[in-house]
Amino acid sequence: MTTSWSRFGERYTRRTGSLELMEDLGDAVADSSGVLFLGGGNPAKIPAVQARIQERLAAIAASGELTDRLVGNYAHPTGEIPFRAALARLLEREYGWNVTAKNIALTAGSQGGFYLLFNLLAGEFSSGERKRVLLPIVPEYIGYADQGLDSGLFVARAPRIEELPDNAFKYRIDLEGLSVGSSIGAICVSRPTNPTGNVITDDELARLDEIAAAAGVPLIVDNAYGLPFPGIVFVDAQPHWHENVILCMSLSKLGLPGVRTGIVVAREDIVEALTRMTAVMSLAVGSVGPVLAEDIVASGEILEWSRELVTPYYRDKAAYARATLADALGGVPFRIHVSEGAFFLWLWLPGLPITSAELYRRLKRRSVLVLSGHYFFPGYSDDWRHRDECLRISFAENPRVIADGMAIIADEVKRAFAQD
Ligand SMILES: Cc1ncc(COP(=O)(O)O)c(C=O)c1O
Repeated sequence: MTTSWSRFGERYTRRTGSLELMEDLGDAVADSSGVLFLGGGNPAKIPAVQARIQERLAAIAASGELTDRLVGNYAHPTGEIPFRAALARLLEREYGWNVTAKNIALTAGSQGGFYLLFNLLAGEFSSGERKRVLLPIVPEYIGYADQGLDSGLFVARAPRIEELPDNAFKYRIDLEGLSVGSSIGAICVSRPTNPTGNVITDDELARLDEIAAAAGVPLIVDNAYGLPFPGIVFVDAQPHWHENVILCMSLSKLGLPGVRTGIVVAREDIVEALTRMTAVMSLAVGSVGPVLAEDIVASGEILEWSRELVTPYYRDKAAYARATLADALGGVPFRIHVSEGAFFLWLWLPGLPITSAELYRRLKRRSVLVLSGHYFFPGYSDDWRHRDECLRISFAENPRVIADGMAIIADEVKRAFAQD
């Protein structure tokens, strides 16, 4: 027997890039034998971070009161109040932002937060207008792509490509070509960017901020890898918030993806809207992440975790992964995006004779999981060969997996060029 799905069902049961990625990840975690997993967004297991999480869990388990708060109560639909208050104080202390707990909403992962925000700010309005979310630069995060209740929720702009020495390159926002008409409901950018490792500069961010303000739309900044935590940023960059910015943060990349805690810092009316939607959709936001992290947020220790344990760990890994890949690829045309943050290398293979999707399949047959670059152009419809010439390679795994994986990637790339 088959049952037909509603339009909502049809929309959200399609096979998407996010599904492919998360299935690959789930399978690899369940049975990792022989798979070189350079695909998903799982953070690295940093021993010093793991040890601190275990300590905190033990302290919670030893306290009846904390255990109750962890699992025994529904939290407020905006999210655990003590955690939000502690985070507001931290952001005020660290950056001087004028925020209180009323500016902070927690969501089911930041992924859940984006779903609510995008569909709140874009789509069909009761006036009959249709608005879209402008991605001022692609490649951009795969996870936005299929979130819209309406299709065509995103519109995206191609970047300028700056070629740099040593087979490097950097995408730049084409600010001159960026016009924001009345059909735009919000602008969104991830910083650091998944998949490229780009950190758009403070100046670029300031310009985007001005453009958003002039158009009267919010600027959503996806800070899943950013500052002050988890701090996977290797260049000088200042976080930025004021009332027209919606800053989305997460506990995931710090080492806690299982708790599904997303954090939205925004104007009070936006926080209130998220609260109402959460109450309808899921009553409350999970308490596990907030209760686990509350003491390190209140004490500011989360900043030390980030600066001393997380940032250097990924900075070293980025350098190792880049050197290993560049070394292995000698002899074919390639460029690697400058690694300024997050934990991915973005490999561009100009003139690749096959598509990156085909390269992904060939690598999967050899038990190397990466992501094909073509997924990372949500809202971009021009025919641009570049889209099919890139791979995203995670370097969160251990050095052996990275070295073995890079060798096989280089081998497949060379075979593809040789067959041309
Ligand atoms: C750029 C970016 N934003 C948001 C997310 C969502 O993270 P989470 O829902 O775990 O907070 C991810 C996860 O990989 C990401 O890479």
